[in-house]
Amino acid sequence: MLAGKKIILGITGSIAAYKAAYLIRGFVKRGAEVQVVITPAGKEFITPITLFALSSNPVISEFFSNRDGSWHSHVDLGLWADAMVIAPATAATIGKMANGIADNMLVTTYLSCKAPVFVAPAMDLDMFAHPTTRQNLDKLRGFGNYIIEPAEGELASHLVGKGRMEEPDKIIEILDNFFAAGQDLQKKKIVITAGPTYEKIDPVRFIGNYSSGKMGFALAEACASRGADVTLITGPVGLQVTNPRIHRINVESAEEMYGMAMQTFPGADAAILCAAVADYRPATVAEKKIKRNCNGNMTLELTANKDIAASLGAIKKPGQVLVGFALETNDEISNAVEKLNRKNLDFIVMNSLREEGAGFQGDTNKISILTRQDDVKEYSLRLKTEVAVDIVDQLIVTLKEK
Ligand code: CTP
Repeated sequence: MLAGKKIILGITGSIAAYKAAYLIRGFVKRGAEVQVVITPAGKEFITPITLFALSSNPVISEFFSNRDGSWHSHVDLGLWADAMVIAPATAATIGKMANGIADNMLVTTYLSCKAPVFVAPAMDLDMFAHPTTRQNLDKLRGFGNYIIEPAEGELASHLVGKGRMEEPDKIIEILDNFFAAGQDLQKKKIVITAGPTYEKIDPVRFIGNYSSGKMGFALAEACASRGADVTLITGPVGLQVTNPRIHRINVESAEEMYGMAMQTFPGADAAILCAAVADYRPATVAEKKIKRNCNGNMTLELTANKDIAASLGAIKKPGQVLVGFALETNDEISNAVEKLNRKNLDFIVMNSLREEGAGFQGDTNKISILTRQDDVKEYSLRLKTEVAVDIVDQLIVTLKEK
């Protein structure tokens, strides 16, 4: 998918700059054209001669190419590109990009770029964890840039942690997927619920569950990469979204999730209910921290939460698609079919806790999809990101049938 694509590769002053050589080679091998823009600090780590030899294009670093007054146009460059990739991106460059400090060719090109921008941070773990860096990256996400999260591992400082630039092969794959994704969900609005809900007991305690949100977030990314506008209503999770087409709404309790789902579903084409919603919440929330009672047991009275899936099923209009999940431990198929019907879903994604590698927390899942036509499709154990693609494929089929 990269053949014929024009890519600006921005390189900054990080030890990971050497990986830019592999990136150029990978892009060029797949038929892309690469124009390198490097910061002055970047040239301390990798030479323009190497970069020129690999990209077959003169490397741009200064505003002026020589002393005769001719200059490099960052505007033309910005218009030329199909994508801009800044890899490695240092904390300093990320800060400049987030705040419009256009004091070098790379940042001016970034500001002029009309194409999608991918940023692959590389820095020491403490710099990456610093609130300034987090804020700047959030700002870039807000601008619609794609942040390619760094990996964990040994860093140049020999400390071990998160900050290693993602491997060139992975970055190339991300770009490839970006261009490959058919835009078959363009103009579709999809609501997704994800993660657990927290039901307050008192100011410091809650009832929750082990849902990590990974499946719901993978679904949101899969839908957005195919052109959908996604509203992701998520309970408390430690995950980030990458695609700017995802509008994230953070909630805590089932009641809040219900409120946001009921508000957004009427304007949507489909909803995927992936959240592990608590079926019950404490009947009353104690205003003060509940004290330990040494003499005996404690009883919590619980009251039922609304079933979000069933509530959306009740207001579903013709043409809208509703997808649910069923995590079962026994009688999987009959339980899932019962939920499919009771909640007025169009199809249900079933996973069984009896299957190794399926369910909460992990990166993999093994699903079956049950449709209203009594069709049961079984899938093999796959990464949640791959499972998400299978589910979205089924969603597209169902949307077309409606
Ligand atoms: N669901 C929901 N709101 C709830 C409970 C569940 O939207 N209050 C959704 C889940 O997101 C999932 C589907 O309903 O898509 C099935 O959830 P599950 O917990 O398996 O089913 P329950 O109806 O809660 O049944 P049970 O817990 O008895 O298995």
